[in-house]
Amino acid sequence: MPWGMKNRLSQLIRPNGHCMFMPIDHGYFQGPTSKLERPGETIQPIIDYADALFCTRGVLRSCINPVNSKPIILRVSGGTSMVGKDLANEGLTTTMEEVIRLNAAAVGISVFIGSDYEHQTLLNLSKLVNEGEKYGIPVMAVTAVGRELEKRDARYLALCCRIAAELGARVVKTYWCEDFEKVTNGCPVPVVMAGGPKTNSDLEVLEFVHDGMQKGAIGVNLGRNIWQNEYPVAMIKSLYAIIHENATVEQAHEIFNGEKDKKSKE
Ligand code: 5RP
Repeated sequence: MPWGMKNRLSQLIRPNGHCMFMPIDHGYFQGPTSKLERPGETIQPIIDYADALFCTRGVLRSCINPVNSKPIILRVSGGTSMVGKDLANEGLTTTMEEVIRLNAAAVGISVFIGSDYEHQTLLNLSKLVNEGEKYGIPVMAVTAVGRELEKRDARYLALCCRIAAELGARVVKTYWCEDFEKVTNGCPVPVVMAGGPKTNSDLEVLEFVHDGMQKGAIGVNLGRNIWQNEYPVAMIKSLYAIIHENATVEQAHEIFNGEKDKKSKE
């Protein structure tokens, strides 16, 4: 692997092979998502626990201090909105020149497999990989489902991850699902898990992240279930324990409850 590519990937993935990415890119199609109205303030208490930040150039420039920042994964696809016709109709929004100017460690782009825009978004990915490989910049492919959350099953997600890897993504982001090993076994590059919309219980998040890690994920790119939680520090600390310290669900839950109690007494 070329030196620059290896160097950037090593900024994102720790020597233990695991990673915790903190996504705050949601506004690029959702607008001021709940708890992300002021992204800089939202991440302030939790960012120390993350290995990288996933965001657009707009939020990066206006809300993130360039001094001593975490490595940046720049979201470079978009062009759609929650109120538009089809979330899948994305294009590339950011040039490689800008990616280099912003000193990003990687770029992220969504692909919408099975949608009307499958071909277009897969070619977006391929073009981005062509550019990224030229400059040693890894591409993280985001296997997006738009509004169709029910698509999150092993057969579909395995198909998406494999196609993204075949087209040259260095890392693939997907959703956790039952039989997650079917997704990781068929994907020749590292897989990270997104969280999706906020779950009903805190334990559920710890359980699915733990299960995904046991079944071959290298970590998470998980946002709403951390920063929309009433106790975001408790949640990120307990996920950190699972991902970087090999904690069980029970141990992680104890950490969550301990941090929650501490916060409640403040
Ligand atoms: C939004 C994204 C997010 O980065 C991804 O979905 C992870 O965030 P969350 O855990 O909140 O789902 O790609 O377009």
